Amino acid sequence: MQEFLKKPGFMVSSGTLGADLSYLLAVVFTLLFLVAWWMAKKGQSTRHHKLALISMISMVTYFVAYYYARNLGALAAEGKEGFGGPPEIYDNVFSPILFIHISLVILGLILGPYLIVEGYRACDKVGGEYVLKPGVLKADPKKFIRIWLWILGLWGVMEVFCLIRGKPWQAQLAYFLIFATIALVVGLEKLIEKWLPDGARRHRILGRVTMIMFALILVTSTATYLMLYVIYPLKAATG
Ligand code: HEM
Repeated sequence: MQEFLKKPGFMVSSGTLGADLSYLLAVVFTLLFLVAWWMAKKGQSTRHHKLALISMISMVTYFVAYYYARNLGALAAEGKEGFGGPPEIYDNVFSPILFIHISLVILGLILGPYLIVEGYRACDKVGGEYVLKPGVLKADPKKFIRIWLWILGLWGVMEVFCLIRGKPWQAQLAYFLIFATIALVVGLEKLIEKWLPDGARRHRILGRVTMIMFALILVTSTATYLMLYVIYPLKAATG
């Protein structure tokens, strides 16, 4: 698989198949989210909910499959080795953009699933259509504890699975970090409830922030792609 993704790309001569595929899919997913935003703005709430759900599931599936195939962090490592431009540009322009891009992707992967769950909680179905219901939306504290226990249980199962399969400690650490992040986000809900008690307003405000983030992910991934494969490809540096 690694070899397949390193084959020459189809968009520009210096690109790889992995980079082209990754960039094109990033464009497709971002556009799907922006269309879902436009649907919500036009009051097409059920279409909005379906498209947001489909886009989120496909984006997460793609991320897991792609980064698993290319070994986690390949994108970050690719910068140093594959960047053909001057070191000042790498340090002052490319690296900060890549850092912002990865941070936004991580935040987007947290906020997206959060909004899917919050979207269902904040909606009522009226005549077959989802409608955001105004009013305070708070989760029952007992439910919180149950959710945390589930997270703890699932993390335990994954760790046992890692031990049985003899996975390296890095894999165990990765699972710990993933489950700790999920537990933290569930905990953050308490803070968010205080800050934005109205469920409908919470969905609209956090939804817009997330959509703007998805648009910025597209901008930063385009900049990264252009710098790596069009403006400063490795060939230009090595002759
Ligand atoms: C990644 C997931 C999601 C994001 C980023 C998102 C984002 C948004 C945004 C930005 C708006 C406000 C549009 C505007 O006025 O600018 C909105 C409205 C809405 N969303 Fe979502 N949403 C998501 C998932 C969901 C889900 C899963 C549901 C339902 C189960 C849902 C139901 C609604 C409804 C009913 C509205 C109101 C539309 C109207 O004003 O008629 N959303 N969403």
